[in-house]
Amino acid sequence: MRLADKRILLGISGGIAAYKSAELVRRLKDQGAEVRVVMTRSAKEFITPLTLQAVSGHPVADSLLDPAAEAGMGHIELAKWADLILIAPASANLMARMAAGMADELLTTLCLATPAQVALAPAMNQQMYLNAATQANLKTLASRGILLWGPDSGSQACGDVGPGRMLDPLALVERCCQQLAVEPLLAGVTLLLTAGPTREALDPVRYISNHSSGKMGYAIARAAREAGADVTLVSGPVALATPQGVERIDVESAQQMHQAVMSRVGACDLFIGCAAVADYRPAQVAPQKIKKSGDNDQMTLALVKNPDIIAAVGALAEKPFTVGFAAETVDVEQYALDKLRRKRLDMIAANDVSQAGQGFNADDNALAVFWQGGQATLPLADKLTLARHLVALIAHHYRS
Ligand code: PMT
Repeated sequence: MRLADKRILLGISGGIAAYKSAELVRRLKDQGAEVRVVMTRSAKEFITPLTLQAVSGHPVADSLLDPAAEAGMGHIELAKWADLILIAPASANLMARMAAGMADELLTTLCLATPAQVALAPAMNQQMYLNAATQANLKTLASRGILLWGPDSGSQACGDVGPGRMLDPLALVERCCQQLAVEPLLAGVTLLLTAGPTREALDPVRYISNHSSGKMGYAIARAAREAGADVTLVSGPVALATPQGVERIDVESAQQMHQAVMSRVGACDLFIGCAAVADYRPAQVAPQKIKKSGDNDQMTLALVKNPDIIAAVGALAEKPFTVGFAAETVDVEQYALDKLRRKRLDMIAANDVSQAGQGFNADDNALAVFWQGGQATLPLADKLTLARHLVALIAHHYRS
């Protein structure tokens, strides 16, 4: 499963080699990839969307202006979702449109909107391939960092012999594996990680909590696993699937999270505290549902401090390499540096949670990372991309 959890957007343009695309989807899935298919108008003359939907397990996207598709995974979301865009077959016409920077249908638009690597598997008649216009377009695309996989040479569907055959599906899968291979930066490292919110009970039906969705922490768990770490995730209540290969311990309250962490921290090399742990909990948990009282318009709750989990890890005589998070709304750097020092952390990742579209319960985030004598900025990106950058940064400092 060399493509486990990898998200490949397969673009299909119009050419006779499109008949091989269904096989390509199946072979990519054999390696564990999640595949979404986007077809151009002319591709549908060669193979049906229904076939690609059946083999990929997802509806095929083919229109830029489809309100129903936009209400699901919209085109910008799709562009951000992909780890790799592979266009196979890539026709001479499609490559000409890409070289001109056109956004005239969904696939060409995605190529402009994606932060992911784009790879093309050219397929066309040998004379078309050798034509000066096609060669100039290929040169332009290569100079912009687009990968060109193939073509092969040999006998063609039209009877000609020469360069222009699409690479075999298995050869394309191999290129994808090589392209998406993750450096095992954390191989042999045991990571303990917290994620999500905590819930502090008031009575059997009510609690105090916050807006953490767990997305940031789960993305880190997945990125660390991809980088070869042995990952245990202590998770507050969230609605997310456990990343593949990660051990998950579910907890509700800060005290339970504290207990789960302290009983495992001795066995870990690296600790990351991404959970939004409630600083306080109700002093008393009512055994029955608290009733509204007729004559009181106000209610006062007594709260007591929760254990500071990461500070407890930082205070250990033999502590793991410890990375905290700081969720701040003002003076982000100053508060983050204060937490780095006070909680005896090796590194802290600060997010400005006053900004719309990032931080709590958002799909994207941006981080300012600080350590003794240094800092790095990880700009706004989807949480998985950001997590991969953060994991690379942590691995670098952990190893040095
Ligand atoms: O879950 P998402 O919706 O994806 O949102 C991600 C996030 C915004 C929750 C995440 O990026 C984040 O910032 N997590 C830390 C939130 C937080 O509680 O920050 P803090 O500044 O209050 O705490 C500082 C550090 O101390 C954190 O590492 C926290 O885990 C830890 N802490 C805090 C209190 C406590 N009692 N015990 C702790 O261990």
